[in-house]
Amino acid sequence: MTKLSVNINKIATLRNARGGNMPDLLRTALDCERYGAEGITVHPRPDERHVRYQDVYDLKPVLTTEFNIEGYPSEIFIDLVMKVKPAQVTLVPDPPGVLTSNAGWDTIKHERFLKEVIAGFKSCGIRTSVFIETDEKMIRNAAKTGADRVELYTEAFASAYKADPQKAVLPFRMAAEAANDSGLGVNAGHDLSLENLHFFYQNVPHLLEVSIGHALICDALYYGLENTIQMYLRQLK
Ligand code: PXP
Repeated sequence: MTKLSVNINKIATLRNARGGNMPDLLRTALDCERYGAEGITVHPRPDERHVRYQDVYDLKPVLTTEFNIEGYPSEIFIDLVMKVKPAQVTLVPDPPGVLTSNAGWDTIKHERFLKEVIAGFKSCGIRTSVFIETDEKMIRNAAKTGADRVELYTEAFASAYKADPQKAVLPFRMAAEAANDSGLGVNAGHDLSLENLHFFYQNVPHLLEVSIGHALICDALYYGLENTIQMYLRQLK
């Protein structure tokens, strides 16, 4: 079973464009769950241009599926996650002003830092995942940080998919095998879409969760949120 976690950052971006509460982020999150999403993901960034820190506090008590908070483990982020205690925290190595996550961790260079941060989260009972590319060394070393899972950064797959799907997916299949071999669960995300998701799902073993935001929210403009979530869920069967 591969779970679909809907990343609702784009809903917050739309809301923030006018300063009011439309669309209502909490209501959208609950509707995503009602329409079949098996998790909700948020990525609060330091400038709060998408999801705000307060949104994260507000979402926690109302969500009934797995809450996943992504972000760079700055002091303020760590404090937020420890207080909110989501089901999962996904650590990304984003510099503060970046448009969207654009690289995975160097788990060798940052092993000590990650180990320390992850130990803190684990002591609060929070599942931990590290955002990572397909380099086998980085994946095997991720296990040394104490992380429960890795999230495979799928941008490289998505951008190469059209030209040669088999070639695009091969490093991800091998990465998933290496992660599983090292005792790590496998999540994936970034630029997954209705076009490429089913192929990814069919070709990458051990896939526990995908988190999808941009394409899903764009598709919802045409198909509606309920239909869109159902369509994405069908790609995972
Ligand atoms: N995973 C991580 C770590 C991300 O930063 C993002 C984007 O916020 C996603 C997954 C989802 O990517 P997309 O919006 O392209 O579906």
